[in-house]
Amino acid sequence: MKLEVDGVGKLFQRGKKEIQAVKNVSLTVSEGEFVSIIGHSGSGKSTLLNLISGQLLPTTGKILWNGESIVKKRDYEAAFLRNTLIGHIPQGMGLLSNLTVFDNLQLPFYLSKREGNPTERAYELLRRLGIENLKDSYPNSLSGGEMRRVSIARALINKPKILLADEPTSDLDPENTGIIIRLFQEISREGTGVLMVTHDLSTIGAADRVYQMSHGELVLKCKENITYFHDKEDAG
Ligand SMILES: Nc1ncnc2c1ncn2[C@@H]1O[C@H](COP(=O)(O)OP(=O)(O)OP(=O)(O)O)[C@@H](O)[C@H]1O
Ligand SMILES: [Mg+2]
Repeated sequence: MKLEVDGVGKLFQRGKKEIQAVKNVSLTVSEGEFVSIIGHSGSGKSTLLNLISGQLLPTTGKILWNGESIVKKRDYEAAFLRNTLIGHIPQGMGLLSNLTVFDNLQLPFYLSKREGNPTERAYELLRRLGIENLKDSYPNSLSGGEMRRVSIARALINKPKILLADEPTSDLDPENTGIIIRLFQEISREGTGVLMVTHDLSTIGAADRVYQMSHGELVLKCKENITYFHDKEDAG
């Protein structure tokens, strides 16, 4: 399985103002690769992940899965593919407040109408993320870091081909950040491509490749040479 982002751009309209959130971005992520994107707030990182996941349509360019576009497919087919191929940890986490942790994390399985039973996989993920004790709790009783781990488990329930992770360690302490990053390394070794957006420079050593996003443009960086905190802030 290979994801190809080919010359993708996204223009938003806010009132009379046009915002070119993503500009001519090209990138590939193959099975088993761990790719990181860093960049200032407003530089277009979440927009790029939402384009890849199919939640937004690009203004220009193409997003291909094994050479095929999801966009051309009918809505339900695209949604089915998304739930099968892609695990998405959105920045806002998006847990449903009226479902328990256990039900939240099995939801993508039921949405993609899989054969079989997700329970064993769900227990395995609870264990790997250290949240077995939260199984029957509701999201509003969890800390930010705990919610984050539930949203990571949920993104992995269907053993996706690609995991899109939008600042997955932003509210975690260093110990839990380490747990998540090691988990991402493990699942990439198990064959899942990982595309992680982050502000946390302590995590980029784990990635195979690191890109920087700046004013909507994506540039490949040498990991040893990352000094973006000294650059000027992006101006939205
Ligand atoms: N639906 C939208 N309509 C209009 N403008 C938008 C929309 N979504 C995002 N933008 C704008 O696009 C730009 C990029 O936003 P995006 O959320 O991709 O940034 P980001 O790099 O993820 O930032 P952060 O690190 O703060 O999460 C910003 O200027 C934002 O205000
Ligand atoms: Mg963002």
